[in-house]
Amino acid sequence: MSLDYQGRIASLRAIGGVDAVAIVPGTNMQYFTGLDVHMSERPIVALFTRDDLAVIIPRLEATKVTARPDLKAQVIEWTDEEGYQGAFAWALDTLGLRGKTLGVDGLTMRVTEWLVFSQIDPSLQVKPVERELVSIRAHKMPDEVDAMRRAIAISEAALKQLLTEIKPGMTEKAIASRLEALMTEGGGDGVAFDTLVQTGPNSASPHGSTTQRPLQPGEFLLIDYGCKVDGYPADITRTVCIGAPTAEMQTIYDTVLRANEAAKAAAKPGVPCAQVDRAARQVIEDAGYGQYFIHRTGHGLGLDTHEPVPQIAGNIEDPLEPGMVFTIEPGIYVPGLGGVRIEDNVLVTDTGVEILTSFPRSLTL
Ligand code: GLY
Ligand code: MN
Ligand code: MN
Repeated sequence: MSLDYQGRIASLRAIGGVDAVAIVPGTNMQYFTGLDVHMSERPIVALFTRDDLAVIIPRLEATKVTARPDLKAQVIEWTDEEGYQGAFAWALDTLGLRGKTLGVDGLTMRVTEWLVFSQIDPSLQVKPVERELVSIRAHKMPDEVDAMRRAIAISEAALKQLLTEIKPGMTEKAIASRLEALMTEGGGDGVAFDTLVQTGPNSASPHGSTTQRPLQPGEFLLIDYGCKVDGYPADITRTVCIGAPTAEMQTIYDTVLRANEAAKAAAKPGVPCAQVDRAARQVIEDAGYGQYFIHRTGHGLGLDTHEPVPQIAGNIEDPLEPGMVFTIEPGIYVPGLGGVRIEDNVLVTDTGVEILTSFPRSLTL
């Protein structure tokens, strides 16, 4: 399925209270245009008015826009010799934006771009529209969900193969590198984030790192990973034990699994995010491990692996809405012993949720 950029641009044009929206390179640019451009010292800005799209871009990258007739974009190119001031001024004049209101994503537009706009036209007004952008991106279109389904399928097939190959003595880095190779061979477009492989006591740190520590039998092996497809990620965590776990390890695992299941059962349209977080946390607290569940239950998932909506946390009363995709990833982290996290990716449908991830959830193989 190809990505529907005109549909996305239509929702951008529906943002009220602005005469145009300026988008700089990053995941917003990727979302609304699919242009493969990066933030650098050479500014690039896409300006969306009600009827037009103009892209201010260095000449050396201009063909990326001309190669996309579907965007119906006017290319306003500049060269290193001329500098970019003239291109910015031309854009404001051509689009009739002097004295008007420009919507910007205050989280990504730099002072660099804003200074040029405001020096050319001190009467230009700025309005932050990041909340509107986040809200548009929180409701996934079918093409986005399809890309995530493919990323998940490739990631899960890679883990299935990896688990047939893992032996005690392999280092965390060797395991991560093999998993990444398997995802690439399976058709993934690279990793969604640094693959996290943590063994034994290392797994007790939810924001730890992948080290040269060799895996030992009978300890936790936590793998948090995912590839991208068309820019969209999988974000999956499974925890296993190669060998025989202790009774305490099995209890911790079973508790996290029940928390994961309780959160999934609680999630449906209209339910406040806090209620989903509470469902997971209650299970872990009731089992006596509450002090070891030290993060939120999940986060929004999209072009950014961590998207701000929805936030499955105890203080977020906003309801889940159809089209949202998010993670459910409770964990228990016991210093010295290790940690368990079980992370699934979830789509909110009109009537409930669909669990997009299906890799088995079992401590032992
Ligand atoms: N992989 C980062 C996370 O699960 O949030
Ligand atoms: Mn993850
Ligand atoms: Mn996650």
